[in-house]
Amino acid sequence: MEYWDEDAHLVLFAVHPERQRQGIGGSLLAWLEASAAAAGSQRIRVEARRDNVAGRSFYNDHGYHEVRLKLRMYSGTLDGVHLEKWLRLRSDA
Ligand SMILES: CC(C)(COP(=O)(O)OP(=O)(O)OC[C@H]1O[C@@H](n2cnc3c(N)ncnc32)[C@H](O)[C@@H]1OP(=O)(O)O)[C@@H](O)C(=O)NCCC(=O)NCCS
Repeated sequence: MEYWDEDAHLVLFAVHPERQRQGIGGSLLAWLEASAAAAGSQRIRVEARRDNVAGRSFYNDHGYHEVRLKLRMYSGTLDGVHLEKWLRLRSDA
């Protein structure tokens, strides 16, 4: 996780393939969200490949909204999806 002025950015997040779908990712994400909230972040941003069904489902299940599709985001070939989750009201709201 990177911490910016207002937002936190989840840069890299993965669970070992043999340990997936056992709740580890959800527990880690909850801990990272609590850390971001404690650090004052208003929102968490994350990206996933468009064809990453597992990742997108995972983030959707945890309250992340898909806000933008970016064509050829990865290596100039694979499309990506930007997701975000608001932890509190926007500072200008
Ligand atoms: C996304 C990831 C971190 C989830 O970790 P995890 O430990 O499996 O997550 P949890 O066990 O807490 O939650 C599992 C939930 O994620 C989603 N999910 C995980 N694998 C899935 C799959 N193959 N197909 C569809 N949904 C899937 C489902 O919502 C699932 O809930 P369910 O088992 O009740 O259906 C893991 O799949 C992973 O490391 N993927 C490769 C890296 C990656 O894509 N990172 C995120 C994008 S940067």
